[in-house]
Amino acid sequence: MQIKESISRTFGEYLLIPGLTTKSCIPANVSLTTPLTKHRKGEKSAIELNIPFTSAIMQAVSGPKLAIELARNGGLSFIFGSQLIERQAEMVRKVKKFKAGFVISDANLKPSATLQDVLKLKKKTGHSTIVVTEDGTTTGKLLGLITSRDYREKDSPEKKLEDFMTPFNQLIVGIEDISLDEANEIILKKKLNVLPIIDKNQHLVSLVFRKDYESHQANPLELSDVNKSLLVGAGVNTHDYKDRVPALIKAGVDVLCIDSSDGHSEWQKECLLWVKNHYSKIPIGAGNVVNGDAFMYLVNAGADFVKVGIGGGSICITREQKGIGRGQASALMAVAKTRDEYLEKTGMYIPICSDGGIVQDYHMVLALAMGADFLMMGRYFARFDEAPGEKLLINNQYVKEYWGEGSNRAQNWQRYGEGSTESLKFEEGIDSYVPYAGPLKKGLEQTLSKIKATMCSCGVLTVAELQKKAVLTLVSEASITEGGTHDVMRKS
Ligand code: IMP
Repeated sequence: MQIKESISRTFGEYLLIPGLTTKSCIPANVSLTTPLTKHRKGEKSAIELNIPFTSAIMQAVSGPKLAIELARNGGLSFIFGSQLIERQAEMVRKVKKFKAGFVISDANLKPSATLQDVLKLKKKTGHSTIVVTEDGTTTGKLLGLITSRDYREKDSPEKKLEDFMTPFNQLIVGIEDISLDEANEIILKKKLNVLPIIDKNQHLVSLVFRKDYESHQANPLELSDVNKSLLVGAGVNTHDYKDRVPALIKAGVDVLCIDSSDGHSEWQKECLLWVKNHYSKIPIGAGNVVNGDAFMYLVNAGADFVKVGIGGGSICITREQKGIGRGQASALMAVAKTRDEYLEKTGMYIPICSDGGIVQDYHMVLALAMGADFLMMGRYFARFDEAPGEKLLINNQYVKEYWGEGSNRAQNWQRYGEGSTESLKFEEGIDSYVPYAGPLKKGLEQTLSKIKATMCSCGVLTVAELQKKAVLTLVSEASITEGGTHDVMRKS
């Protein structure tokens, strides 16, 4: 038996001591660019994030909608792997196909559908433009369009779409490969609200809406590849990777990550070696670990980045179920120390990701200061419109659903039952609600502005500088009380 340390600490037990803020230390000068994958000292990582955020490999977090919005704002999602291979590959494809300003229609009906179907779909999706395709699918042959100008709600509910839609021969359409500027030119000239885009066989590709134009203007932090497609990652497990990885690569995935609550295992090593042998160009991360030895094990097996964190997730009950884990601050600082020693010895830099346990926005800066290159968050992202969970009104408050990958609901036993059937008998996560937080872009803006303000207080302008120069202090119970509002009566 060995005792690792006397105490294992987490974010809430630390604060940053401010450094000298020079006149150049203003938020506009702060860069949050950070490496995602292994690289030689002094060189650039093949993939750099423009903000140090990735979204958790979870059903309740990383679907294609969130992946698109996060990449448009400089971060990266890992599409969850706890689903059929083909469905996950389809989600990856959806992100790679996304073109800013071009929307995949999710309100489609067949010509034989009725006004009643239109009203139902309008209520369900909130969209008043309904696309009529031959087979009622998103990519079917375009036959017409219905907008609220085409009917009155008191008309017969049995009225068939083919009798009142604007038929194809009266529609103005754009052809695939049209640029956003060209599409908007047509919209303005012809006074349209929407322009359907079709392929050469008249099949629907996407829609461009007049109202979306401004919000789809160039996004300076957008994370994209040489073809201007957004970057997207995907989670894989150590069971079906020989089938899953090829399908994801075919779909265009940019980076993979082995998803496991305890990554220090021979299964991860085998998976890493197999991927490196068969697809040497695709970067792959591994984890999760909480100590230097486990980090080195995965690095030696070829990991391009390593995720740190066991038991700190907001929905996680791993620690109480299995008694494994480590306070996230202690875990991060231990792994970062080994990472830095490895850099010194070999000249290779392996980025580390702090996964789980972020509660306050300031915890994010602490994690970076403790050595993380980027963060992975579940709860934070699950609160936004773009996350897959349902938005509900409970006790007069809007909430979103958020459930753990080890909960019965996710039934992702592969992540939690590495190589054994024993753990199939208990859960490692819960099903919960989180307060609804509106659109991702707005939430991110506020969070990032806080991070930048803290970095300015510390006198640093980059993540690397923060890691080097940050001065952390432990806080006592009494100083935590002093740090909150105290000895006053709140007005409201
Ligand atoms: P959060 O940001 O604190 O909500 O933590 C998210 C992280 O918790 C994920 O990235 C996973 O590493 C971890 N996680 C996800 N589902 C479970 C679970 O069911 N049990 C334990 N940990 C989980």
